[in-house]
Amino acid sequence: MGLPLTGCHSYEHYVSDLERAEAFYTKSLGFKRIGVSTPAAEAQNGMRRLVMAGGPKIHVILTQPLTDWSVAAGYLRLHPEGIGFLNFRVSSLDKAVAFLKPRRATFLYEPQVTRDDHGEIAQIAMATALDDVNYRLIDDSRYDGFGPSFHMEQKAGSYVSPLGFTDIDHFTANVRSLQPLTSFYRDVLGFEKFWEIEFHTNDVNPNLPVGSGLYSEVFWHPASGIKFANNEPIAPFFRNSQIDIYCRDNHGSGVQHVALLCPNILKSMDQLQSQGCKFLAATDSYYEKVPDRLKKSGFKGTIREDMKALASKDILIDGSEKGYLLQIFSHELSRQFGDRKAGPLFFEVIQREGDEGFGGGNFRALFETIEVDQIAMHKVAAQLPLETI
Ligand SMILES: [Fe+2]
Repeated sequence: MGLPLTGCHSYEHYVSDLERAEAFYTKSLGFKRIGVSTPAAEAQNGMRRLVMAGGPKIHVILTQPLTDWSVAAGYLRLHPEGIGFLNFRVSSLDKAVAFLKPRRATFLYEPQVTRDDHGEIAQIAMATALDDVNYRLIDDSRYDGFGPSFHMEQKAGSYVSPLGFTDIDHFTANVRSLQPLTSFYRDVLGFEKFWEIEFHTNDVNPNLPVGSGLYSEVFWHPASGIKFANNEPIAPFFRNSQIDIYCRDNHGSGVQHVALLCPNILKSMDQLQSQGCKFLAATDSYYEKVPDRLKKSGFKGTIREDMKALASKDILIDGSEKGYLLQIFSHELSRQFGDRKAGPLFFEVIQREGDEGFGGGNFRALFETIEVDQIAMHKVAAQLPLETI
């Protein structure tokens, strides 16, 4: 028996400016506020929280501290704004705990069972190998609300996104050294390895005086389909890797991006771009290389979308023997807002047409564009001296 996960419940995003964050999710990403923390919960937790729905299976708890002693204030003393909890549904909390305890899961508290007008909900939280990011496991199979801390204005699960988002495809996290996180997913959670890639710009041109790279692996929970992509920086130019830069900007490891799944990315991007969300641009040469790259990847079908339309929206294309995928990455929130305190979290929008990968063929393009983004923020633009004695 594995961990009885059934899906993603929500994630919790800690912010210092709730109004700004709510406006961004609402105006730029097409989310809607569907719930708010009750006065009793606010007094008890010292935090104001909003439930934002981004689609039928996409829910975000936006949390701002009201007091110095709240968990959100503790997080924000150590990090810029970012994701502090990933919340998952389980079919039985007892079975989840029975699975995790002998595997040395580190719980933050004992299982909590709450009963109210909506029924009975059981939950537990656990530490992860991702610094201050925690997991919550929630059994709400006998509960017809979102959670006992919230007054809901609309039922969770009923929101249809005007942008077409249907689900969270995956979360991606960055760490400086991957092995403890690998062990957490494999040995504690019992997940299986799904995919991996190692990429360095020097693989393409070994003579470059600068460059950057990463190793990335995806773990998944086959029964629920939940996937996590995890990245570490690799040498040479370790400290120039976007992964190491993220860890410095975030003051530790954390969630780098949330991938939002949609059935028609061209339609979604029409609205996203007009609503002010800023996305990474792709170079013209990127699109010239696409047909060759797809052929080498084993992709034999045809891309249904018009290539010119994809290029006009900077949408990236990747393929495999199984099909293709279309994806695009937003700027980091710190850049969206022009404020470092907003943190290095960003969003991916992805449409899958049979390809179950993560855009490995796009890593080079992504690296080039993210690094332009980071240079624009005056982070690391040049090779740093090696840290020898
Ligand atoms: Fe991704």
